[in-house]
Amino acid sequence: MRLKIAVFVSGRGSNLASIIEAIEDGAMGATIVTVVCNNPDAYAITLAKEHGLNVFVLSHKGMSREEHENKILAHLSTLEIDFVVLAGYMRVLTGNFLQAFKDAAGYFRVTNIHPALLPSFKGASGYEDAFNYGVRVSGITIHLVDEEVDHGPILAQRPFPRLADDTLHSFRERGLAVEHALYPEVLAAIANNGVESLLLKNVHGQLESTVRSEK
Ligand code: GRF
Repeated sequence: MRLKIAVFVSGRGSNLASIIEAIEDGAMGATIVTVVCNNPDAYAITLAKEHGLNVFVLSHKGMSREEHENKILAHLSTLEIDFVVLAGYMRVLTGNFLQAFKDAAGYFRVTNIHPALLPSFKGASGYEDAFNYGVRVSGITIHLVDEEVDHGPILAQRPFPRLADDTLHSFRERGLAVEHALYPEVLAAIANNGVESLLLKNVHGQLESTVRSEK
């Protein structure tokens, strides 16, 4: 059975493009059921439409966070989404939204990609912050989302070096290449083997749970 995903975007959509490509190549047993975007000017919308995808655009401006999320939830409610895939979605999701995607094990079926090795360099400027700090190694993190920003069980991390002659631009380009490989790989693993296959086990052999709502 194909994994039914909703991809959330706010901007350029290069991660969306890599996911679309992997699906179209047959490399991922997933279907993008809808693309949700809060920015009417995002290039990601054009991209999604070019590929014939269902697109739901709703600016968050002029409405409360709750109202915005509830309208998105209403859109998603009829689509039987297995996973929400955040790909450059620049809005923090509230616990109220996340609860709609809670699975039997207590995890929220929502993934996010962050352009640094969490828990370092959280926030909207992962590349800039890691580069300006002067790290020699950075990386990409894909994790399950919980109620804290850039936090939740880590599904995959892949490092990349900062080279001596790097500019912020070349550093970011190297990282983006990793993003575009890693997100399709992680989603393919979820589709084929379930998200549990990517979660670490603690010393007792139990799946790690850092879902905040349970604390
Ligand atoms: C990526 O760097 C992603 O890691 C971060 O936001 C950026 C989105 O880029 N969360 P794009 O819209 O996928 O091109």
